[in-house]
Formats: sequence, C-alpha cells, structure tokens
Amino acid sequence: MTPKILVTGSAGQIGAELVPALRARYGRDQIVAAIHKAAGSPLLREGPVETLNVSDSSAVSRVVRQYGIDTVYHLAAVLSATGEKSPDLAWEVNMQGLKNVLDVARQAKLRRVFWPSSIAVFGPDAPRKNAPQNAPLNPTTMYGVSKVAGELLCNYYFLKYGMDVRCIRYPGLISSEALPGGGTTDYAVEIFYSAIQKGSYSCFLEKNSTLPMMYMPDAVEATLKLMEAEPSKVKRHSGYNLAAISFSPEEVAAEIRKQMPAFKVTYSPDQRQKIADSWPMSIDDSEARRDWGWAHRFDLSKMTGDMLARLGPRLASAQKGV
Ligand SMILES: NC(=O)c1ccc[n+]([C@@H]2O[C@H](COP(=O)([O-])OP(=O)(O)OC[C@H]3O[C@@H](n4cnc5c(N)ncnc54)[C@H](O)[C@@H]3O)[C@@H](O)[C@H]2O)c1
Repeated sequence: MTPKILVTGSAGQIGAELVPALRARYGRDQIVAAIHKAAGSPLLREGPVETLNVSDSSAVSRVVRQYGIDTVYHLAAVLSATGEKSPDLAWEVNMQGLKNVLDVARQAKLRRVFWPSSIAVFGPDAPRKNAPQNAPLNPTTMYGVSKVAGELLCNYYFLKYGMDVRCIRYPGLISSEALPGGGTTDYAVEIFYSAIQKGSYSCFLEKNSTLPMMYMPDAVEATLKLMEAEPSKVKRHSGYNLAAISFSPEEVAAEIRKQMPAFKVTYSPDQRQKIADSWPMSIDDSEARRDWGWAHRFDLSKMTGDMLARLGPRLASAQKGV
C-alpha cells in the first residue's frame, strides 16, 4: 500500500531533502509538506503544501483528515542552540507539538509515525566515546530534555495504545540543500559555504570538538529504511542510536584543504561550546545495524568531496547572479 504522508517542519534542513526523497519514492501527490513560518525550498511546492502550526492540535487534525493521511513524519522542532535562547518555546513546540501529533495519530488510527530524536539526549555522564544505546540520559539543554521526554512519550504511546511510532537519534547532519536551523553542529555546514565564498571561516566550536555527524543522504536513507522495516524488526520505539562519522572542526577543515589548500580557519568558541561539551564524541549504533540493517555510505572524505562538488558550482553561479 502506498502511504499518504504528512511531513511537519518540511521547510527545515531535513525536510528539504526528505520531502523530495519521499515524493520520488511514493509519488508527488502522496506527500503533504507542512511548513510554518519559513517557506522552504521551491522544490516543496512541486506537490501539496500546507501551512501548519503543530502547537495547534485541531489544525493538525484538519490536515490529516483533509488529505486522508496515514503516516506522519513529524520534523517540526526548535533545535539545541535556539532552544537554549528560548527554552519555553522549545518545550512548547517540541513537547506539546509531539503530543498533538501523537494524539491526532491515535484518534485517526494512523498506520505509522516517525519522530526524530537526537544525540542531545545524552548528557555529561554518558560515556564520551561510543555512547551505548542504554547510556544514562541526563541532558543539560532544554532541547535534550525535550528529546528524552519525547522518546519516553513515543514509547508510552506504543505500549499503551499499540501505536507504530519509530524514532532515530540523529547525529549532527550536514547537507548541501538547506542551511541548518539553529543547532550546535551547524558549523559543519557553514564551514563549506564559507570555504567556497570567502576562503576562510571563523568557527564557533573549538578545533578539537569531536561530535557524531552524518551526511544528509545517509540520514534520509536511514529514515526510509527504518520506516519501511517490517514491524517485527523494530525492537524499540524510543530512539535508536544512529551513527556514521565522528569528526572535529579541525578534521573537516583539513579535508576541505585537500581541495582548497589556502583555506583558513580561526576558532572563537561561543555559548554553543558548552552544549557540544555535554554530548558524546561518538555513539554506538549496533542495535540499528542489527535490527533493521542500517549501514552508512558516506565517510568524511566522500562527504567533503560531495559537498564541495554540489555547493561549488551553485554558489559560483549565485555570485555571478546567474
Ligand atoms: N539537523 C540536525 O542536525 C538534527 C540532528 C538531530 C535531530 N534533529 C531533529 O530532526 C528534526 C528536524 O530537524 P531540522 O534540522 O530539519 O530542523 P530545522 O530547524 O531546520 O527545521 C525545523 C522546522 O520546524 C518548523 N517549526 C518550528 N516551530 C514550528 C511549529 N510550531 N509548527 C510547525 N513547524 C514549526 C520550522 O519552521 C522549521 O522549518 C527536529 O526534530 C530535530 O530536533 C535534527
């Protein structure tokens, strides 16, 4: 059966690549892209688009009924750095928004819900290297608190109502198609833009701040793989650890320098350093690999090559006004 899908937060960094991937897979009109304040990429308008505030439960319910939705990818959220500036907003959007989506999904008897958690569920007491699936979850950011509570809520709806809710703990995501939306790993996208446009970059994290990262095509692949897995293979309904590569600003800069030897990076850590320091450097995702066959394709060198190959010509033609 071809799913009829609602994607909330479609205008964000993940939606910009997940919506086109879902449309390519299931058909353009099967995917309703919900946006909020930001319009997102023009690509979103190649299929149905709705404006939707996930804090408004009746609006979520209306869109689900109007389009006969049976599956929701609930991406709308306030991310880590923005969440530390506006903790009340982060709680409202991340928690009430998720509860609204889960309640509508329960009432409308939807087939499946996807909700992304994050490596932000871990706090300073988790092992810094290869943080295991069952590491202590004591985050020190409101974003992390909302992700831990969100995971528990998803698992509760599975246990209590038998709902098929599936979650991934994404690492920091790097994408060529959309700028990130206020997270602690945003530097790993900005560095590519700045390398191409200015030949230099001032990084807001320290040079040796290693964090778990992933290239967006791998994140999209993992999402589709988890959502298409046979229910018997999905053994947990809180967040699966998901990993690909771990690197520091210094390491990605060195990789960029292989193609742009004159590229210079300076380091001026800001308040986001504290958030980065509270997260693990790498995580163990062997459960995802075992349960539903997750395998990443992009290492640091392959990702860097692809980012520069995609962004280089695009930014050059934008500069010329083409
Ligand atoms: N990008 C990453 O590196 C990363 C890593 C881990 C987890 N995640 C999770 O993945 C999901 C999507 O992340 P993203 O990077 O695309 O985020 P983003 O910030 O780029 O996009 C989030 C979108 O949510 C929308 N939004 C905010 N408040 C809303 C509201 N009240 N109603 C409806 N929409 C609203 C915003 O307009 C934005 O388009 C989030 O749950 C995030 O926590 C992302």
